[in-house]
Amino acid sequence: MSDLSGEVLAEVAAWLPPNDEPDRPQIQVATVDEDGRPDLRTVLLSEWDERGFVFHTDARSRKADQLAARPGVAVLVLWPGFTRQLVVRGRAEPLDADRIAGGYAKRSPYLRQLAWLNDDELAQAGQEQRRARWAAAAGHDFSAPPESWTGYLVRPERLTFWRSDAEGPSHRVEYREEPGGGWSTHHLPG
Ligand SMILES: Cc1cc2nc3c(=O)[nH]c(=O)nc-3n(C[C@H](O)[C@H](O)[C@H](O)COP(=O)(O)O)c2cc1C
Repeated sequence: MSDLSGEVLAEVAAWLPPNDEPDRPQIQVATVDEDGRPDLRTVLLSEWDERGFVFHTDARSRKADQLAARPGVAVLVLWPGFTRQLVVRGRAEPLDADRIAGGYAKRSPYLRQLAWLNDDELAQAGQEQRRARWAAAAGHDFSAPPESWTGYLVRPERLTFWRSDAEGPSHRVEYREEPGGGWSTHHLPG
């Protein structure tokens, strides 16, 4: 696995907000189920660096089951207004304990409470009951993550940057990991 470096790293740094920006980007993460069918959902991009893209989730989730069996993923970041799209293909690796806890520490109080409470049992309750349980839990200590809190590092193998151009055709620049390591650059239509 090659770390991002040179031109492709500079592109990622220019497009994505820094990790200390509290308003985290929304990304779509596609996985594949046991029958080979695609699945998709939105998550927050917790952080990124030269190793790849990190998101956090619930270990009991469908995506966690799918990634345990098939770590291949596609990740999409879309900028509003027909301007830019970044598509990353790669493999998801479970995060180490420090990065799992680090992602939790940066979550808002609302999202920490959600990580503790939002389980299957609560999902089956009616809205009034869900709200009552939520209110009853307010003020509890949610400073440490629940056991179900986990996260993944998406190690990229291919990154495709799509740019619109108000005065010309849209254009894609793609970086592909080479078998011997490093990144090759390709210019694509579309
Ligand atoms: C804007 C937005 C942000 C979300 N962020 C996360 C997130 O960071 N982690 C997460 O596990 N789920 C997040 N969700 C919920 C997921 O989209 C999804 O419903 C949930 O993770 C269960 O997905 P799964 O059953 O495919 O595993 C978010 C949803 C939305 C709409």
